[in-house]
Amino acid sequence: MEKILITGAAGQLGTDLALYIQKRRPAARILLTDIRPEAPQDLADFRYQPLDVNDWPAFEQVLADFAPTEIYHLAALLSGTAEKNPELAWQLNVQTQKHLFDVCVQTLPGVKVFFPSSIAVFGPGAGKFARQQAYLDPTSMYGVTKVAGEQLGNYYHFKHGLDVRSLRFPGLISSKAMPGGGTTDYSVEIYHVAQQQDSYTCYLRDETPMPFLYMPDAMQAIEKLMAAPAPALTVRTSYNIHGFSATPKDFAASIAEAQGRPFELLSHPDFRQAIADSWPAELEDDAARKDWDWQPDFNLKAVTADMLVAVGEAKQTV
Ligand code: SER
Repeated sequence: MEKILITGAAGQLGTDLALYIQKRRPAARILLTDIRPEAPQDLADFRYQPLDVNDWPAFEQVLADFAPTEIYHLAALLSGTAEKNPELAWQLNVQTQKHLFDVCVQTLPGVKVFFPSSIAVFGPGAGKFARQQAYLDPTSMYGVTKVAGEQLGNYYHFKHGLDVRSLRFPGLISSKAMPGGGTTDYSVEIYHVAQQQDSYTCYLRDETPMPFLYMPDAMQAIEKLMAAPAPALTVRTSYNIHGFSATPKDFAASIAEAQGRPFELLSHPDFRQAIADSWPAELEDDAARKDWDWQPDFNLKAVTADMLVAVGEAKQTV
Protein backbone atom coordinates (compact mmCIF):
# COMPACT_ATOMS: atom_id res chain seq x y z
CA MET A 1 0.00 0.00 0.00
CA GLU A 2 1.44 3.35 -1.07
CA LYS A 3 0.90 5.99 1.59
CA ILE A 4 1.79 9.53 0.64
CA LEU A 5 2.16 12.35 3.14
CA ILE A 6 2.40 15.97 1.97
CA THR A 7 3.35 18.73 4.41
CA GLY A 8 2.69 22.36 3.48
CA ALA A 9 0.04 20.91 1.18
CA ALA A 10 -2.09 24.06 0.97
CA GLY A 11 0.75 26.06 -0.57
CA GLN A 12 1.40 26.74 -4.24
CA LEU A 13 3.37 23.57 -4.91
CA GLY A 14 1.37 21.34 -2.56
CA THR A 15 -2.01 22.17 -4.05
CA ASP A 16 -0.98 21.14 -7.54
CA LEU A 17 1.06 18.18 -6.31
CA ALA A 18 -1.82 16.71 -4.28
CA LEU A 19 -4.18 16.90 -7.26
CA TYR A 20 -1.53 15.51 -9.62
CA ILE A 21 -0.66 12.53 -7.41
CA GLN A 22 -4.34 11.78 -6.84
CA LYS A 23 -4.87 11.63 -10.61
CA ARG A 24 -1.72 9.71 -11.47
CA ARG A 25 -1.81 7.22 -8.59
CA PRO A 26 -5.46 6.57 -7.76
CA ALA A 27 -4.66 3.54 -5.56
CA ALA A 28 -2.40 5.52 -3.21
CA ARG A 29 -3.63 6.75 0.17
CA ILE A 30 -2.87 10.45 0.56
CA LEU A 31 -2.75 12.54 3.72
CA LEU A 32 -2.40 16.29 3.40
CA THR A 33 -1.18 18.48 6.24
CA ASP A 34 -0.68 22.23 6.48
CA ILE A 35 -0.55 24.88 9.16
CA ARG A 36 -3.90 26.26 7.94
CA PRO A 37 -6.82 25.07 10.09
CA GLU A 38 -8.84 23.90 7.09
CA ALA A 39 -8.09 22.56 3.63
CA PRO A 40 -8.55 25.10 0.84
CA GLN A 41 -11.43 24.61 -1.59
CA ASP A 42 -9.29 22.91 -4.26
CA LEU A 43 -8.30 20.21 -1.75
CA ALA A 44 -11.69 19.68 -0.13
CA ASP A 45 -11.86 16.03 -1.29
CA PHE A 46 -8.67 14.97 0.46
CA ARG A 47 -7.98 13.59 3.90
CA TYR A 48 -6.59 16.70 5.63
CA GLN A 49 -5.03 17.31 9.00
CA PRO A 50 -3.93 20.72 10.29
CA LEU A 51 -0.32 20.46 11.42
CA ASP A 52 2.41 22.88 12.43
CA VAL A 53 5.49 20.79 11.58
CA ASN A 54 7.50 22.88 14.04
CA ASP A 55 5.43 21.20 16.75
CA TRP A 56 7.65 18.12 16.72
CA PRO A 57 5.52 15.88 18.96
CA ALA A 58 2.51 16.58 16.74
CA PHE A 59 4.57 15.94 13.57
CA GLU A 60 5.92 12.68 15.06
CA GLN A 61 2.38 11.58 15.90
CA VAL A 62 1.26 12.10 12.30
CA LEU A 63 4.27 10.13 11.03
CA ALA A 64 3.63 7.30 13.51
CA ASP A 65 -0.12 7.11 12.85
CA PHE A 66 0.02 7.32 9.06
CA ALA A 67 3.34 5.50 8.52
CA PRO A 68 3.93 7.03 5.08
CA THR A 69 5.91 5.25 2.38
CA GLU A 70 6.58 8.58 0.64
CA ILE A 71 6.85 12.06 2.12
CA TYR A 72 6.70 15.33 0.20
CA HIS A 73 8.00 17.79 2.75
CA LEU A 74 6.95 21.15 1.35
CA ALA A 75 6.40 23.15 4.54
CA ALA A 76 8.93 26.00 4.34
CA LEU A 77 9.30 29.77 4.31
CA LEU A 78 10.10 31.30 0.91
CA SER A 79 12.72 33.95 0.21
CA GLY A 80 10.87 37.16 1.03
CA THR A 81 9.37 35.86 4.26
CA ALA A 82 12.60 34.17 5.33
CA GLU A 83 14.47 37.45 4.96
CA LYS A 84 11.96 39.09 7.30
CA ASN A 85 11.95 36.23 9.82
CA PRO A 86 15.34 34.48 9.71
CA GLU A 87 14.84 32.64 13.02
CA LEU A 88 11.63 30.99 11.88
CA ALA A 89 13.23 30.23 8.49
CA TRP A 90 16.12 28.41 10.15
CA GLN A 91 13.79 26.56 12.51
CA LEU A 92 11.34 25.46 9.81
CA ASN A 93 13.57 25.00 6.76
CA VAL A 94 16.53 23.40 8.54
CA GLN A 95 15.86 22.13 12.06
CA THR A 96 12.45 20.66 11.39
CA GLN A 97 13.68 19.13 8.14
CA LYS A 98 16.58 17.53 10.01
CA HIS A 99 14.18 16.26 12.64
CA LEU A 100 12.03 14.71 9.92
CA PHE A 101 15.11 12.96 8.50
CA ASP A 102 15.95 11.63 11.99
CA VAL A 103 12.43 10.28 12.54
CA CYS A 104 12.49 8.68 9.06
CA VAL A 105 15.79 6.93 9.77
CA GLN A 106 14.58 5.72 13.18
CA THR A 107 11.00 4.71 12.42
CA LEU A 108 10.21 4.54 8.68
CA PRO A 109 12.51 2.07 6.94
CA GLY A 110 12.43 2.34 3.14
CA VAL A 111 10.56 5.67 3.12
CA LYS A 112 11.25 8.01 0.19
CA VAL A 113 11.47 11.72 1.00
CA PHE A 114 11.19 14.63 -1.41
CA PHE A 115 11.85 18.25 -0.51
CA PRO A 116 12.08 21.27 -2.77
CA SER A 117 15.30 23.22 -2.94
CA SER A 118 15.66 26.41 -4.94
CA ILE A 119 17.69 28.66 -7.21
CA ALA A 120 18.23 30.58 -3.97
CA VAL A 121 21.13 28.25 -3.12
CA PHE A 122 23.17 30.20 -5.66
CA GLY A 123 24.88 33.50 -5.01
CA PRO A 124 27.51 35.58 -6.78
CA GLY A 125 29.91 32.62 -6.90
CA ALA A 126 27.68 30.74 -9.33
CA GLY A 127 27.52 33.47 -11.98
CA LYS A 128 24.42 34.05 -14.11
CA PHE A 129 24.56 30.56 -15.67
CA ALA A 130 24.54 28.23 -12.69
CA ARG A 131 26.05 24.83 -13.17
CA GLN A 132 24.99 21.79 -11.14
CA GLN A 133 28.26 21.86 -9.22
CA ALA A 134 28.45 25.65 -8.86
CA TYR A 135 30.01 27.17 -5.76
CA LEU A 136 27.16 27.94 -3.34
CA ASP A 137 27.41 31.30 -1.56
CA PRO A 138 23.79 32.46 -1.12
CA THR A 139 23.24 35.99 0.15
CA SER A 140 19.65 35.44 1.33
CA MET A 141 18.60 33.65 4.52
CA TYR A 142 16.31 31.47 2.43
CA GLY A 143 19.30 30.41 0.30
CA VAL A 144 21.33 29.64 3.41
CA THR A 145 18.57 27.39 4.74
CA LYS A 146 18.20 25.60 1.40
CA VAL A 147 21.95 24.92 1.14
CA ALA A 148 21.84 23.50 4.67
CA GLY A 149 18.77 21.42 3.79
CA GLU A 150 20.45 20.03 0.67
CA GLN A 151 23.60 19.14 2.57
CA LEU A 152 21.56 17.42 5.28
CA GLY A 153 19.75 15.38 2.62
CA ASN A 154 23.04 14.35 1.07
CA TYR A 155 24.49 13.49 4.47
CA TYR A 156 21.52 11.41 5.59
CA HIS A 157 21.58 9.57 2.31
CA PHE A 158 25.23 8.58 2.54
CA LYS A 159 25.39 8.16 6.29
CA HIS A 160 22.03 6.47 6.94
CA GLY A 161 20.85 5.27 3.51
CA LEU A 162 17.81 7.57 3.63
CA ASP A 163 16.28 7.88 0.17
CA VAL A 164 16.10 11.68 -0.03
CA ARG A 165 15.52 13.32 -3.42
CA SER A 166 15.30 16.99 -4.29
CA LEU A 167 14.99 19.58 -7.07
CA ARG A 168 16.28 23.13 -7.23
CA PHE A 169 13.14 24.85 -8.43
CA PRO A 170 13.23 28.12 -10.32
CA GLY A 171 10.24 30.45 -9.93
CA LEU A 172 7.11 28.29 -10.18
CA ILE A 173 4.18 29.59 -12.21
CA SER A 174 0.73 28.12 -11.59
CA SER A 175 -2.92 29.02 -11.79
CA LYS A 176 -4.32 27.39 -8.62
CA ALA A 177 -2.84 28.39 -5.26
CA MET A 178 -0.93 31.67 -5.17
CA PRO A 179 2.74 31.58 -4.18
CA GLY A 180 3.44 33.06 -0.76
CA GLY A 181 6.33 35.30 0.14
CA GLY A 182 8.75 34.56 -2.70
CA THR A 183 10.88 36.75 -4.94
CA THR A 184 9.48 35.17 -8.10
CA ASP A 185 5.81 35.70 -7.10
CA TYR A 186 5.31 38.47 -9.67
CA SER A 187 5.32 35.85 -12.42
CA VAL A 188 1.95 34.61 -11.13
CA GLU A 189 0.49 37.94 -9.95
CA ILE A 190 1.02 39.52 -13.35
CA TYR A 191 -1.41 37.08 -15.01
CA HIS A 192 -4.09 37.75 -12.39
CA VAL A 193 -3.69 41.52 -12.78
CA ALA A 194 -3.79 41.21 -16.57
CA GLN A 195 -7.37 39.88 -16.31
CA GLN A 196 -8.59 43.21 -14.96
CA GLN A 197 -6.08 45.93 -15.76
CA ASP A 198 -3.84 47.00 -18.60
CA SER A 199 -0.79 47.66 -16.43
CA TYR A 200 1.15 45.91 -13.66
CA THR A 201 3.58 47.36 -11.12
CA CYS A 202 6.42 44.96 -10.39
CA TYR A 203 8.59 44.95 -7.27
CA LEU A 204 11.61 44.16 -9.46
CA ARG A 205 13.33 46.20 -12.18
CA ASP A 206 11.90 45.37 -15.57
CA GLU A 207 15.17 43.94 -16.94
CA THR A 208 15.79 41.43 -14.11
CA PRO A 209 16.26 37.96 -15.63
CA MET A 210 15.40 34.87 -13.59
CA PRO A 211 14.69 31.22 -14.36
CA PHE A 212 11.09 29.96 -14.28
CA LEU A 213 9.18 26.72 -14.58
CA TYR A 214 5.51 26.06 -15.34
CA MET A 215 3.73 23.89 -12.78
CA PRO A 216 2.94 21.00 -15.19
CA ASP A 217 6.68 20.74 -15.86
CA ALA A 218 7.38 20.82 -12.11
CA MET A 219 4.89 17.96 -11.66
CA GLN A 220 6.46 15.76 -14.32
CA ALA A 221 9.90 16.55 -12.86
CA ILE A 222 8.88 15.42 -9.36
CA GLU A 223 7.19 12.32 -10.74
CA LYS A 224 10.21 11.31 -12.85
CA LEU A 225 12.71 11.99 -10.09
CA MET A 226 10.73 9.99 -7.53
CA ALA A 227 10.19 7.08 -9.94
CA ALA A 228 13.85 6.86 -11.01
CA PRO A 229 15.77 3.82 -9.79
CA ALA A 230 18.03 4.84 -6.91
CA PRO A 231 21.29 3.80 -8.64
CA ALA A 232 20.53 6.20 -11.52
CA LEU A 233 20.69 9.21 -9.22
CA THR A 234 24.11 10.84 -9.19
CA VAL A 235 22.98 13.93 -7.25
CA ARG A 236 21.78 13.59 -3.66
CA THR A 237 21.97 17.24 -2.75
CA SER A 238 19.44 18.64 -5.26
CA TYR A 239 19.10 18.61 -9.04
CA ASN A 240 19.17 21.80 -11.13
CA ILE A 241 16.19 21.99 -13.46
CA HIS A 242 15.52 24.81 -15.90
CA GLY A 243 12.38 25.81 -17.75
CA PHE A 244 13.00 29.20 -19.34
CA SER A 245 14.61 32.53 -18.47
CA ALA A 246 12.59 35.73 -18.50
CA THR A 247 12.45 39.29 -17.18
CA PRO A 248 9.35 41.15 -15.98
CA LYS A 249 9.47 42.95 -19.32
CA ASP A 250 9.36 39.63 -21.17
CA PHE A 251 6.26 38.58 -19.20
CA ALA A 252 4.50 41.88 -19.93
CA ALA A 253 5.38 41.68 -23.65
CA SER A 254 4.17 38.13 -23.86
CA ILE A 255 0.84 39.08 -22.21
CA ALA A 256 0.42 42.04 -24.56
CA GLU A 257 1.04 39.82 -27.55
CA ALA A 258 -1.37 37.13 -26.38
CA GLN A 259 -4.12 39.63 -25.53
CA GLY A 260 -3.58 41.68 -28.67
CA ARG A 261 -3.53 44.99 -26.78
CA PRO A 262 -0.94 47.06 -24.90
CA PHE A 263 0.00 45.95 -21.39
CA GLU A 264 2.15 48.40 -19.47
CA LEU A 265 4.83 47.41 -16.99
CA LEU A 266 5.76 49.75 -14.15
CA SER A 267 8.55 49.07 -11.71
CA HIS A 268 8.98 49.94 -8.01
CA PRO A 269 11.83 47.75 -6.75
CA ASP A 270 11.74 46.73 -3.08
CA PHE A 271 14.06 44.59 -0.91
CA ARG A 272 13.46 41.59 -3.18
CA GLN A 273 15.52 43.25 -5.96
CA ALA A 274 18.73 42.44 -4.07
CA ILE A 275 17.63 38.82 -3.70
CA ALA A 276 16.79 38.54 -7.41
CA ASP A 277 20.08 40.16 -8.39
CA SER A 278 21.99 37.53 -6.42
CA TRP A 279 20.32 34.64 -8.28
CA PRO A 280 21.28 33.16 -11.65
CA ALA A 281 19.35 33.87 -14.83
CA GLU A 282 19.66 30.34 -16.14
CA LEU A 283 20.51 26.87 -14.82
CA GLU A 284 22.51 24.10 -16.43
CA ASP A 285 20.40 20.96 -15.96
CA ASP A 286 22.42 18.26 -17.75
CA ALA A 287 22.51 15.88 -14.76
CA ALA A 288 18.70 15.86 -14.51
CA ARG A 289 18.41 15.29 -18.27
CA LYS A 290 20.90 12.43 -18.17
CA ASP A 291 19.89 10.71 -14.90
CA TRP A 292 16.09 10.74 -15.17
CA ASP A 293 15.23 12.11 -18.58
CA TRP A 294 14.25 15.64 -17.57
CA GLN A 295 12.85 17.78 -20.35
CA PRO A 296 10.50 20.78 -19.96
CA ASP A 297 7.51 21.25 -22.27
CA PHE A 298 6.67 24.92 -21.67
CA ASN A 299 8.38 28.12 -22.78
CA LEU A 300 7.11 31.62 -21.87
CA LYS A 301 4.76 31.88 -24.85
CA ALA A 302 3.12 28.54 -24.01
CA VAL A 303 2.87 29.47 -20.32
CA THR A 304 1.20 32.79 -21.13
CA ALA A 305 -1.35 31.15 -23.44
CA ASP A 306 -2.20 28.59 -20.77
CA MET A 307 -2.17 30.93 -17.76
CA LEU A 308 -4.45 33.55 -19.29
CA VAL A 309 -7.08 30.90 -19.96
CA ALA A 310 -6.64 29.09 -16.62
CA VAL A 311 -6.70 32.25 -14.48
CA GLY A 312 -9.66 33.61 -16.46
CA GLU A 313 -11.64 30.40 -15.94
CA ALA A 314 -10.83 30.33 -12.22
CA LYS A 315 -12.08 33.93 -11.88
CA GLN A 316 -15.38 33.04 -13.58
CA THR A 317 -16.09 30.18 -11.19
CA VAL A 318 -15.45 32.28 -8.06
N1 SER B 1 10.11 30.97 -5.74
C1 SER B 1 11.05 30.98 -4.67
C2 SER B 1 11.16 32.31 -4.06
O1 SER B 1 11.01 33.28 -4.75
C3 SER B 1 12.39 30.55 -5.17
O2 SER B 1 12.65 29.29 -4.72
O3 SER B 1 11.45 32.40 -2.91
